[in-house]
Amino acid sequence: MSDETRLREAIARYGAILYQRGLAHGTAGNISVRLDDGSILVTPTNSCLGFLDPGRISKVGNDGTVLAGDPPSKEAFFHLAVYQERSAAQAIVHLHCTHSVAVSCLCHEDTGNVLPPLTAYHVMRIGKLPLVPYFRPGDRALAEAVRNAARDHAAMLLANHGPIVSARSLEEAVYNSEELEETAKLFFLIGNRPSRPLTCEAVEELNRVFPS
Ligand code: 13P
Repeated sequence: MSDETRLREAIARYGAILYQRGLAHGTAGNISVRLDDGSILVTPTNSCLGFLDPGRISKVGNDGTVLAGDPPSKEAFFHLAVYQERSAAQAIVHLHCTHSVAVSCLCHEDTGNVLPPLTAYHVMRIGKLPLVPYFRPGDRALAEAVRNAARDHAAMLLANHGPIVSARSLEEAVYNSEELEETAKLFFLIGNRPSRPLTCEAVEELNRVFPS
């Protein structure tokens, strides 16, 4: 089986897992992986992540040209922008998962990091989570705002929209997305109760022992 076929099947498999876990609903969200020649496989626009047909997943060139498959996600341009800025990124997961989207709708004093370091795994898998200003889905201006955030961040939160998580593999992008959603859930579960996020020293130790 070719690498491309294997990756097409992996996108469909992880899409179904995200859907079954309630992290994707309707036709929200999109997934991509980078191929060796710099083109990407990306989920088709208006497709449900739970029921992807591997053979119909779109293939898009680095310049945005559609090479094969169904018409690509309207967000293909922000996927390409992240790959262009992050040479180590091989996969991207964008979701509209409920708790993360709820965080994206709040007013934030510090848009450089919109979730506190509640747990070690959040720090290890997400780190600082910047809020990207709101743009309409599919707007090229959104792709440029995503490009800016991607220079320093593997994960980001689009205002009134949802998270984008890039990683070295599809498996890692999925796991990191799940970790982010769990932290957002904890954030609301804790609410206004006095809480004790990790100290700066604890965060520095995690960054030292588990560099990203
Ligand atoms: P697509 O169906 O075009 O991928 O758009 C879904 C989405 O999540 C928009 O942000």
